[in-house]
Amino acid sequence: MPTVNYIDADGTRHVVEVPPGENVMRGALYNNVTGIVGECGGGLSCATCHCYVDPAWTGRVGPPASQDERDLLQAAACEVRPNSRLSCQIVMTEALDGLTVALPQTQY
Ligand code: FES
Repeated sequence: MPTVNYIDADGTRHVVEVPPGENVMRGALYNNVTGIVGECGGGLSCATCHCYVDPAWTGRVGPPASQDERDLLQAAACEVRPNSRLSCQIVMTEALDGLTVALPQTQY
């Protein structure tokens, strides 16, 4: 099963298996990675699933952010960077095995 590396703001790495078809937000929630909150359950209405996709992966995480995602990112609690994504919008595939995402200091 593909794995995702979640890197906390303090540098702690969580290596988690996330099944294909599942999104990166839920992969964190189901495995006690607390740096992602996912308050709206993936409904694209909260921005508490903000993450920074590792530069090696930014072009490989599926379609680019939609306009709705980009708009909502502006509500994120921490700095929005060019590699910012809402993790509920990244759907795992086998090709994403090893995906690395850094988590912001806070989601509120
Ligand atoms: S979980 Fe709410 S926007 Fe991603």
